Amino acid sequence: MTELLNAIYDANDFRNTGYALIDKLAMHLQKKTQRQVINFISPNELLAFWQNDWAEQPQEVMPFFEQIIQQSISLHHPQYMGHQVVPPAPLTALADLLAAFLNNGSAVYEMGQASSAIEKLVAEIFCKAIGYSQEADGLLTSGGTLANLTALLCARQAKATEVWEEGNTKDLAIMVSEEAHYCVDRAARIMGLGTEGIIKVHVDEQFRMRTDLLASFYQEAEKKGKKVIAVVGSACSTSTGSYDDLEAIAQFCQKYDFWFHIDGAHGGAVIFTSKYKHLVKGMEKADSIAIDCHKMLMTPALTTALLFKNGGNSYQTFMQKAQYLWTDAEEREWYNYSKRTFECTKLMMSMKFYALIRTYGIQALEDFVTTLYDLGKTFAQIIQSNPHFELAIEPMANIVCFRLLKKGYSDEKLNQLNADIRREIVEKGEFYIVQTKLKDKLYLRTTLMNPFTTEVGLEKLLAYIEKIGNEYS
Ligand SMILES: Cc1ncc(COP(=O)(O)O)c(C=O)c1O
Repeated sequence: MTELLNAIYDANDFRNTGYALIDKLAMHLQKKTQRQVINFISPNELLAFWQNDWAEQPQEVMPFFEQIIQQSISLHHPQYMGHQVVPPAPLTALADLLAAFLNNGSAVYEMGQASSAIEKLVAEIFCKAIGYSQEADGLLTSGGTLANLTALLCARQAKATEVWEEGNTKDLAIMVSEEAHYCVDRAARIMGLGTEGIIKVHVDEQFRMRTDLLASFYQEAEKKGKKVIAVVGSACSTSTGSYDDLEAIAQFCQKYDFWFHIDGAHGGAVIFTSKYKHLVKGMEKADSIAIDCHKMLMTPALTTALLFKNGGNSYQTFMQKAQYLWTDAEEREWYNYSKRTFECTKLMMSMKFYALIRTYGIQALEDFVTTLYDLGKTFAQIIQSNPHFELAIEPMANIVCFRLLKKGYSDEKLNQLNADIRREIVEKGEFYIVQTKLKDKLYLRTTLMNPFTTEVGLEKLLAYIEKIGNEYS
């Protein structure tokens, strides 16, 4: 062992640096409102900063940690209302540290005993909340994107089994709403389905899939020689937080024997609430469901639950042999998760979510989701009572889209004005919101991810937008 390696693994150094870092993060949380949400720096400027930082000589670590905090968007700030990434519960970050330190990457059971057993338990907790029967099972994977791809591969294995061996996917197709997250389109293309194999069903005024069109779109596809294998429902969609009619999709899938997958990356979390669970009525009829813990379930990225109505299906997705890991590739061993996930080495992700619910109960999830969905409704009312703003649609979730209006402005001019406002908001850094285009109109978009956000804060945001809007007119 060299002197350097001895120093790197020194327990006292670890302890002291660890305490100092936790102190910094606790201060960051405590004084969250005393700094900007984002200190926007252009990509090239920041790259130059770090190129300049690299001295090829050892440097102290604490100033580095401090810089990272300064240059990071502050998700715990009450005026952070942009994308769907959660300010993690501090306890889950500690669990993440434990996971990183132990680094029990669970490709096989013995390399991640605790996290594998807890992963099974976490899947059971999700399955129960969904209303699945005892046959159900699931796994955790690295993000909604990967979970959706995994589910669609499983659908292909169930409905077009020959493809794994023969590799021919040219006639296969999936059906999905035109408002679904882009990762579903990407997954289908990765699977070789191509543009023709992704049948995008139109949406209604609330941006929900027009389930009344499913049959005619399917017949059209059939005429073109397409073999539909799956329908993907959104619960909810990304841009507007709209929940598709899952009951109607389930019925359609049952009639034609299609796989029914739900992308519940954002809104599947309502399964843990009594007030909003009705939004996913019919969910238990889906063959597979993806739910991100790093969106509405207070857990650091990435942690996604992928649940299967028939747990046995999850073993069919991948048929690889890996002699160095498993003695029998065909054997259904729940505890060897790499048989069922993309990941070989995998983070100990189950611990983060389990640490939260074990310490605070499922009530923590109920409180979080309900508080933020309620806040979405309150914000919509505030917008509607202000004649200078237009609400895009009545929100079903905590995603609220709206735009500033100006007398005499065309939609084109309003698009430019609202885009300018959004850019200026990000550059000034007092608030963080995003934008989206709905039917060619540009809307400001907020996802209320933060339990620290208040009604007063939302009124302040509108006043701030109006002020910037006036400067641009
Ligand atoms: C509905 C939906 N599905 C999937 C994703 C992708 O999830 P991830 O970022 O965890 O890969 C998102 C992300 O915003 C989403 O909103």
